[in-house]
Amino acid sequence: MKRVVYARRGGLKSIEIIDEENPTPDDNQVRIEVHRAGINFADLMMRQGLYGAAPDFPFTPGYEISGVISEIGANVDDFSVGDRVVALPGFGGYAEQVVVDSNRVWPMPENVSFDAAAAMPVTYLTAHHMLVHLGNFRAGDSILVHHAAGGVGTATAQLAKALEAGIVYGTASANKADFVEAQGMIHIPRGEDFVKRIKEDSDGVHHALDPVGGKHVMDSYRALRNGGRLYVFGASSAVKGPKRSMLKAINMWRTTPRFDPIRMMNSNKSVFGVHMGMWKDEEVVREQMVSLAKMLEMGFIDPVVDSVYRFEDVAAAQQHIHDRGNKGKVLLDFSPK
Ligand SMILES: NC(=O)c1ccc[n+]([C@@H]2O[C@H](COP(=O)([O-])OP(=O)(O)OC[C@H]3O[C@@H](n4cnc5c(N)ncnc54)[C@H](OP(=O)(O)O)[C@@H]3O)[C@@H](O)[C@H]2O)c1
Repeated sequence: MKRVVYARRGGLKSIEIIDEENPTPDDNQVRIEVHRAGINFADLMMRQGLYGAAPDFPFTPGYEISGVISEIGANVDDFSVGDRVVALPGFGGYAEQVVVDSNRVWPMPENVSFDAAAAMPVTYLTAHHMLVHLGNFRAGDSILVHHAAGGVGTATAQLAKALEAGIVYGTASANKADFVEAQGMIHIPRGEDFVKRIKEDSDGVHHALDPVGGKHVMDSYRALRNGGRLYVFGASSAVKGPKRSMLKAINMWRTTPRFDPIRMMNSNKSVFGVHMGMWKDEEVVREQMVSLAKMLEMGFIDPVVDSVYRFEDVAAAQQHIHDRGNKGKVLLDFSPK
């Protein structure tokens, strides 16, 4: 079987594809014949060595996959060979065959495609976790989300609709305005003063989702109303292009605000740090995955897929994201030819 490997820290040339024997599942694992693997922005940061929670090089990225069970461990009795499933392997999902702990695997609803299933877990889980699990989301709440046309951005827009949110503001590149508006958000071009724009309409938003980092975080905080919640869940401003820029990364760290709890107290604002890859309570994730799978089955959510690349073209797929070309999720196709 073939497996994508980040051989060393670097640009797109550090990506290799190797050939090896199929992995064997342990007693509590299943092996999955992968049909689709989701690409996340974090995968690009890992390749550049800008992601603290990544394994040492060489390693295989890939948080989320959909496919068909091809082998079962001795203690696994809730799945059978041939079941269509979606899974969160942690890392290692960019491969034709992947072994995963069976408690990180969920049956795929009949009516859901491999594309939709692989596009769902990380983005919807992250948005759901912020708004619902941490944020005590209420119908009518307003939201600000950045990278609004991307994976988490489009997931947030759909969850907002399903949860009967109020206004959703989405910042994104100017050329993505029509797309962002079609997702039900008010588009604010990236780089424009979103705090001013939001405060023209109201006292601020209930929830601000910031994956940018650096000084951008303080602007997101300022966009909150009294009682509002800020979720800091990324650091995309550390990334310049396919090659690592230490200057950009250092600048992001240097300019990220250190919050003063007394000032936060006086404005009743909260700041959450969110990293789903480092979240320890498996039960919370499992509960959220079950409700998201239900929402998917019932058509309340329907992941937006920008494009599907054969896994041999993984570098081109990642370049597309570096170029800010994606609207929705980019997937890799590992299905047998
Ligand atoms: N903490 C967590 O658990 C967690 C989980 C999932 C995602 N995240 C974070 O959420 C963010 C979105 O992730 P995603 O996987 O859904 O990706 P995505 O939004 O699909 O990422 C691509 C988009 O990000 C925007 N962007 C901003 N800075 C960029 C840069 N330096 N280079 C290229 N594109 C840039 C571009 O949109 P524009 O053209 O509109 O700028 C681009 O199209 C990322 O920062 C990611 O690390 C965090």
